[in-house]
Amino acid sequence: MTHPLEELRESALREIREAKDEQALEALRVGYLGKSGSISGWSEQMRGLSKEEKPVVGKLLNEARTAVTAALESAAAEFRAQNEVAALANIDITLPGTPHEIGALHPLTQMLNRAIGIFRRMGFALATGPDVDTEWYCFDALNTPADHPARNEQDTFFLPDGRLLRTHTSTVQIRTMQNQPPPVRVIAPGAAYRRDEVDATHSAQFHQIEGLYVDEKVSLADLKGTLEFFLKELLGAETQVRFRPHFFPFTEPSLEVDVKSKALKSGEKWLELCGCGMVHPAVFEEVNKSRGDLAYDPEKYTGFAFGLGMDRLAMILFDIPDIRLFAQNDLRFLRQFA
Ligand code: DAH
Repeated sequence: MTHPLEELRESALREIREAKDEQALEALRVGYLGKSGSISGWSEQMRGLSKEEKPVVGKLLNEARTAVTAALESAAAEFRAQNEVAALANIDITLPGTPHEIGALHPLTQMLNRAIGIFRRMGFALATGPDVDTEWYCFDALNTPADHPARNEQDTFFLPDGRLLRTHTSTVQIRTMQNQPPPVRVIAPGAAYRRDEVDATHSAQFHQIEGLYVDEKVSLADLKGTLEFFLKELLGAETQVRFRPHFFPFTEPSLEVDVKSKALKSGEKWLELCGCGMVHPAVFEEVNKSRGDLAYDPEKYTGFAFGLGMDRLAMILFDIPDIRLFAQNDLRFLRQFA
């Protein structure tokens, strides 16, 4: 004779097999195993059973619960799998996907990365300074007198508190020397600002790579060799480099550097790229004063410095006709360098 619990189990398993969907399964779960479900009801009845019956019914009850729970779970899993297949049925996985727009580095960044790579090989480290700086860093410490035209309100962007947007990256020379004794060999790429009339070769914001090398016995020959090597590495071995005497307050002697190369679109034309020179002893003295020591003793140390026009370099390297293109974010322009 079969026990009513066994019958109950068998009818539960049959109904589960025949269930049409997940809702039907849930109804069966509640009906058999829920708080007042028919299998659960047997736990209540256990109390009234005799000592002999208890273990027998207890075992049957456990078996029924385990079997029905397992059947419910596997039927539910089956339904879930079917739903997934149905959901995918309308998707053609052989269709091409939606392509993502892949970004690319800005031509100025590409040029800078190449430049940094070349200077790194010559042992230059990277240095940085703020775009907003004081007159002292921008001018006084760089031996630039109070009556210099760049210090005129009309020529530079001043903030109400008297600070300014640096007119060149040479400010980083001073910050670097304040922070470390010689020898120093750094480059400092960054933005600079001037109240220039904006045209194809001038922009209110432009970029420079500043360089500074201070040690014992650094000479003008080192400066020329370094810049010549750099420019030939960057622009090609055919590049001719010309040094012209010039004037900067913070260097003596001072030079400007031009390049010319048949390999470049500009062809036979000399292009001005860079200001440079031997660090003026007055700059070392001002640094010493602010450091409160004699670390940069002008009798012992010499140095060279340079300021390369980054925008100009990128324009030459990539044959870009107008400096304004760098900041206009026109995708037709930018995509050409992707
Ligand atoms: N700061 C100068 C400028 O913006 C460029 C320059 C000239 C930088 C000579 C230097 C230097 O470091 O030694 O025009």
